[in-house]
This record gives sequence, structure tokens and C-alpha cells, in this order.
Amino acid sequence: MTSTLATSQIVEKLPTELAQTQTALNISNLGRSFLTRKGAVLEALSEISLRVRRSEVVAVLGPSGCGKSSLLRILAGLDEDYTGEIDWNLEQIDSSAAQRLRSATVFQSDSTFPWMNVEKNLLIGLSGLRVEAQEASRRAARYLGLVGLSGFRGAFPHELSGGMRQRVAIARALATEPLLLLMDEPLAALDAQTRLVMQQELLGIWSETRSTVIYITHDIGEALALADRIVVMTARPGRIKAIQTVPFGRDRDVVELRREPEFGSLEADLWKLVADEVGQSLDGSGRKEPKE
Ligand SMILES: Nc1ncnc2c1ncn2[C@@H]1O[C@H](COP(=O)(O)OP(=O)(O)OP(=O)(O)O)[C@@H](O)[C@H]1O
Ligand SMILES: [Mg+2]
Repeated sequence: MTSTLATSQIVEKLPTELAQTQTALNISNLGRSFLTRKGAVLEALSEISLRVRRSEVVAVLGPSGCGKSSLLRILAGLDEDYTGEIDWNLEQIDSSAAQRLRSATVFQSDSTFPWMNVEKNLLIGLSGLRVEAQEASRRAARYLGLVGLSGFRGAFPHELSGGMRQRVAIARALATEPLLLLMDEPLAALDAQTRLVMQQELLGIWSETRSTVIYITHDIGEALALADRIVVMTARPGRIKAIQTVPFGRDRDVVELRREPEFGSLEADLWKLVADEVGQSLDGSGRKEPKE
């Protein structure tokens, strides 16, 4: 495959395995506008159309303010004030369905409950699922271990660092083994080493749970390390500027991957696409901010 991306062109080439997979969600012509305090209309998202396959990991890159979190809130069902259509096809008819959440979200800022200890913060995510006590303990041990917090089960959020609190929020979402996992810059608050370890762990978990994942990040290397496809968004109003298929298999090693020449050239191509849009969003050229 070629690693050259044509600006403003949507590249929609899928690995054969994914092309044959069922659709998990189909977003058609999605738009979202907000009213500012002065009553001006701020168009945050426009003409977003995207088909996500089951078990696919889609990363979303784009400049600050281009509507990434707005899109995630809509997909999480927290904002219904959008235009366009979203068709869901997540239902799973097998014995594990009652033990898995339909969708779980990790938000951009940590979202732990300060009055609950780490273990309770995780277990609260499982309430509502038909998970027996023994299975709940297994998941708590597994996912807290995985984010490196086994020794902090009884600690309260105020006793943890910001990065640790974010890891609690990640463990809580993962423990629900959701059919759809929505993540908004989940690793941004972590140090570089922990981030790499977590990236490798996420790949391992997703291959086990086969979750469909929408993963927002500012980190191009992270998008290449984790995703099957990468969506690049324009400056506000956020539109889809390009979609890049990631040519690496899922059994990738996130550190070794960085040595591959194709990783470097894709990273450079994606950076050019994103940098153009970051420039647009910073100098405001062509797009006017509504007056407050
Ligand atoms: N509730 C709201 N009311 C008014 N405007 C909003 C609201 N939520 C978001 N916006 C505006 O919509 C635009 C997109 O915001 P959003 O948070 O989705 O961006 P983002 O891409 O997630 O940015 P970042 O990378 O900085 O997290 C911004 O201009 C923001 O000011
Ligand atoms: Mg955001």
C-alpha cells in the first residue's frame, strides 16, 4: 500500500479481514452546532460519515477544538442534539452479552468518584451487568493489575496522582468489557514509559475482548501503534479530512513498530495533514470564531 495521503481525499482501503466484518456503527452526515452565550451559532461538527466495523479500532486525530470530544459525547449517548444519523449494530447474541456493557467511555479528564476507593470505583462500573461476585473480583484484580494499581485497591482518589486516577478510570471502562469502547485521549496524562506499556496492554485486551474502539488522541505515533484506521479531522467545523488504513497487524509490538520505515513515513504524512489543520485553527484563517 502507499503511505502517501492526498489532502482532502478520503482514503478508504480496508484490510480484507475488516472489509468482510459486520458494521458496528454507521455514522451518516453527522453535524453538531452549539449556541454561544451571545446567541451566535458555533458549528463544531459537519458532514461526518464513517462506517466502523465490529472489533475495529479507529483512532481520531485533529487539532484542538475540532469537535473530537463532541463526537465522542454523541456516540456515548450523552448528547442527542445532533443532526444526521447513527445506526447501531452492536447487539451480540451469545452467553457473554449480559456480562458486557454496550458501551463504556473514558473521558479526557479523570472521572473517578472521590468518595470511593479504587476498587469501588472499578466495581461501580459493573453494577447493572449480570456479573457474579467472583467474576467481579477477577475483573477488579485483572484490570487494576493491568494498569499497575494492584497495590492501591483501598486508596482514595485524593491519595493518587493525576495519572493514577486516569488509570483507575481506564480500568473501570475496560472491566466492563464493553462492545464499544470510547476513549478520549486516555493516556495523555501518563508519562511516556507508562504510556507505551499501556498501549501494549490495550492491544492485548482488545484482541481478547474484540471490542470496537473509537480512540481520540493527539499523538500520531499512538494512533499508528493502536489503530486499524486513523481518521484525520479538519479544524473546526470538524469534518473528515482523510482516513488512513494502518498496515500493521494486530500482533504488533508498540516499541519495535517504531523501527519500521513505514511507521516513520506514515507518521510524517499524517503529521503534515494534522499540522495544516492545527495552523488553520490557530491563525483562524478561513474560519471565523463567533464573537463571545
Ligand atoms: N457545550 C458546549 N457549548 C458550547 N460550545 C461547545 C460546547 N462543547 C464544545 N463546544 C465547542 O465546540 C468546539 C469543539 O469542542 P470539542 O471539545 O469537541 O473539541 P476537541 O476536538 O475535543 O478539542 P481538544 O482537542 O482541545 O480536546 C469548540 O469550539 C468548543 O468551544
Ligand atoms: Mg477534547
